Order: sequence, then C-alpha cells, then structure tokens
Amino acid sequence: MSNKSKKIVVANWKMNPENEEAAKRIFLYTKKISKKIRKTDIIVCPPFVYLPLLSSFARKVSLGAQDVFWEENGSYTGEVSARMIKGVGAKYVIIGHSERRALGDSDEIINKKIKAALKTGLSVILCVGEKERDPHGAYLEFLSNQIHLSLGKVSKKEFSSIMVAYEPIWAIGAKSYKAIDGQELHETALFIRKTLSDMYGYTEAMDTPILYGGSVNAKNANEILTEGGVQGFLVGRQSLEKELKDIIDIAESFKTI
Ligand code: PGA
Repeated sequence: MSNKSKKIVVANWKMNPENEEAAKRIFLYTKKISKKIRKTDIIVCPPFVYLPLLSSFARKVSLGAQDVFWEENGSYTGEVSARMIKGVGAKYVIIGHSERRALGDSDEIINKKIKAALKTGLSVILCVGEKERDPHGAYLEFLSNQIHLSLGKVSKKEFSSIMVAYEPIWAIGAKSYKAIDGQELHETALFIRKTLSDMYGYTEAMDTPILYGGSVNAKNANEILTEGGVQGFLVGRQSLEKELKDIIDIAESFKTI
C-alpha cells in the first residue's frame, strides 16, 4: 500500500469545519504545505459531504472518509457505502475510530466495515486503542483482541491494504492530558507488530504502517517518531490548524535509520 520509507500523516477533521468555504480553505492550505513534501504521504479525512468538493482539488494530497457502512445499497437510512465513498474520490477510510466505537461500533461491526471497504478497493486505516493503562498489562490483551476481531477473515492479500493507527483513548481529544510517552509507544507498537506477525507473517507485519494518534502536535511529533518507532500520525485537532505544517515538516525531515 505505502512505501515503507515514507512517513504518513492522516488529518482527521472529525465533524469540522462548519461549512464548505472553510473546508476548501483548510484543504488548500494543506495542499500548499504539501507542495515540497516528497517523503510523506498526506491523507485528509473530511466529513463525507466535503469529499466531492475537495476531490476536485486533490492530487498530491489523498482523501479518506471517516467511516463507512458495510452493505452495498438499500434501506439503510443515513448510511454511506464504500462504493459511494470511492465514487467521490476517496482512497482511504478510517474504521474503528474510538469516537465511532463510543457510538456503538463493536469489533464485529468494524470487521464488517473493513471487509466491505477492502472489497471495494479502499485502503483501511484501522484504529485500535485501550481506554486506560493498567500496571499488569491487561491493555495488551485488550489490544490483541481488538486486532484479532477487527481483522477476522481478512486474508493476507487483503491485509496489504491496511494500516493500523494506535490511538490510546486516554490520549485523544480535548479531555486528554497528553500524548503517549515515546518509550511506552515503542513497546506498544512492537506488541501490535508482533500480533500482526502472528496473524499474517513477519514480512506482512513489517510492511504494515503503524501510526500513532492522540494529542499529536508540533512539540511531541519528533519524539513520537524518534522513540515511538511508528511510521506516522493520525492527527485530530491540529489537522485544522496552521501547526499541521510543522507536524508534516517533522515527518518529512525524519531520517529512518
Ligand atoms: P487529537 O485526535 O489529535 O485531537 O487528540 C486524534 C484522533 O482522534 O484521531
């Protein structure tokens, strides 16, 4: 899916901004700051309704949706299918974001969404993350379960279109106190990689991008990459701010050892 030496920055706009004009302005700004970027893939995930407008300006910046429904069409009021998303220019879809899980998406639902997205040719950004950390490491089992259930019956071939965003819930959004510590992230990223390796094999696991999300900003981005051992970020709040430029620049200038 993605070149391993490349970094990845996913901008998750969530339910922002309030109108098309602002969406266009933020997107064009993101596009402008991406102009000289060569070693970082930038994926903007706006609300569904802005996808058609933004895809007309897209090029260098890829587009993704923030969710998808698993059925292809029919009586599912309020839902949007993978084909519809693809049809308006998105190549990616975030599935399993904790804010969707909080609204009722179980691992089983997430699995159905992943399968529908992959079948349609969308690449998947699968979010996983624990609510809290306990000293005995039960959160690792929780993560492993989330990964196994979300990827149930996803074949090795399909798996190559998936990246995993590790987003500890306690680090996400305005109520969180801080991003994860680099060392803790490193250990968790290794654990996720090991889980994927047990499921799909070493090479496949090594080829899968693991991102980090949760209070990423220009101050902690470097530590997250240097110590965390991840390939990029899923950025929420800062993806709507000028600071996104600094985060992308940090990813771009990061040297993989
Ligand atoms: P945040 O959100 O960067 O605002 O913490 C991250 C996310 O929810 O993906």
